[in-house]
Amino acid sequence: MPTPLIAGNWKMNGSRALVDDFGRAFGDAELPESVAVALMVPFPYLDAASRAFEGTPLVLGAQTLSDRPSGAFTGEVSGEMLRDCGARMVLVGHSERRTLFGEDDDAVLARVRAALDLGLAPVLCLGETLEERDAGRTEAVVLGQLEVVFDALGADERARLVLAYEPVWAIGTGRTATPAQAQAVHGAIRARLARYDAGLAADTQVLYGGSMKAANAAELLAQPDIDGGLIGGASLNVDEFLAICQSAG
Ligand code: G3H
Repeated sequence: MPTPLIAGNWKMNGSRALVDDFGRAFGDAELPESVAVALMVPFPYLDAASRAFEGTPLVLGAQTLSDRPSGAFTGEVSGEMLRDCGARMVLVGHSERRTLFGEDDDAVLARVRAALDLGLAPVLCLGETLEERDAGRTEAVVLGQLEVVFDALGADERARLVLAYEPVWAIGTGRTATPAQAQAVHGAIRARLARYDAGLAADTQVLYGGSMKAANAAELLAQPDIDGGLIGGASLNVDEFLAICQSAG
């Protein structure tokens, strides 16, 4: 059973003050020992967060990265810069990056490779739209997004990824997948991982994301193939986020 991981994703929200609030709260908090916690903050706050989170259980992460190492790419941020500012994880292929910023499967794979090359743990996000779910294509879409990346990687590289299943229709909508709906997809992901390697299937953390909050976290996290959460809106409130972390223990 993989270590449960609760990861917050602030998206384009937050402030320096909020970074400090989280540093203080998690410095004082008594969390279950078995739970890992990460927070993906906007680029400008990485450096301050790496100092504020020192000595706390919070692992620092970023929300995307460039697929290039350096150069004339105005506005881009490289994996090397993320590491330099203290990040250890990075989201790749979040649905907002796929749909709003045109990141296709090739772009997602290139970013996964860039993260791995720099020793960052990629959190690869997978998920279907409502239209795709209604057309009965959920597994085909989600497993297709998984295979594009996993087929291109070696066994050692695959073992360094975290996965996050996020049904697009549940993100920021207040409409959560039911535990049974989420478990069905997580189970399919686990089964697909087992076709690569049984150990990979047993050890890979597969997180659920999509309107997870303190009130529904426990029943989602109780599902056998849900190993944690990727939390958007509810990760902006430190008490709510702490409560989700507690329920993962
Ligand atoms: O990265 C987080 C997910 O997109 C979920 O966001 O919790 O606001 O629905 P949400």
